[in-house]
Amino acid sequence: MKILGFVGSLRKGSYNKALMRAALELTPEDTSLEVFDLEGIPPFNQDFENQPPQIVKDFKAKIKQVDALLIATPEYNYSIPGVLKNAIDWASRPHADKVFDGKPVALMSASVGRLGGARAQYHLRQSFVFLNMYPINRPEVMLPSAQQYVDENGNLTNEETRKLIRQLLEELVRWARKLREKP
Ligand SMILES: Cc1cc2nc3c(=O)[nH]c(=O)nc-3n(C[C@H](O)[C@H](O)[C@H](O)COP(=O)(O)O)c2cc1C
Repeated sequence: MKILGFVGSLRKGSYNKALMRAALELTPEDTSLEVFDLEGIPPFNQDFENQPPQIVKDFKAKIKQVDALLIATPEYNYSIPGVLKNAIDWASRPHADKVFDGKPVALMSASVGRLGGARAQYHLRQSFVFLNMYPINRPEVMLPSAQQYVDENGNLTNEETRKLIRQLLEELVRWARKLREKP
């Protein structure tokens, strides 16, 4: 089972990168998690959707190769960061390519605010309807006051959140297997 992860924050000390780092440590057996760095993804321009920049080609190729996706994202202004939106928009085009179609996807968010990025997650879920993706419903991994739970080395120190991340990955793998079954 192969999972591709990506993070909606480019910030070096990102709390969402800390969530993804924890996921790398908590990946279930017989499952691989590779993280794609969104640094360098340009703003989407539909003029180039048929000949996108190399980084977008690489991103789409990786998505095609995996069984499932894992996204960790901050909430920016009650929504998702532009870098993540641009990455999704590029990969979703041209429409006929359908790299996201039918893929299970799991979400995590960390925020310094009180809701842990909940609003960003629900905005993303709306896009998954159009993309025909299958988001995992539970557990919801939303880490509020993240600055209290990530140490100076970028490690997630909150045991409860680590447990939830492990459960989320297990659910993602379970659904990826189910969706792969032939009817
Ligand atoms: C442009 C911008 C908008 C933000 N908007 C929100 C917001 O709507 N809700 C929230 O909880 N935090 C918001 N924050 C604070 C983020 O939770 C905080 O910067 C967090 O550290 C970002 O995630 P990261 O550590 O992965 O980079 C915002 C931060 C920025 C830079």
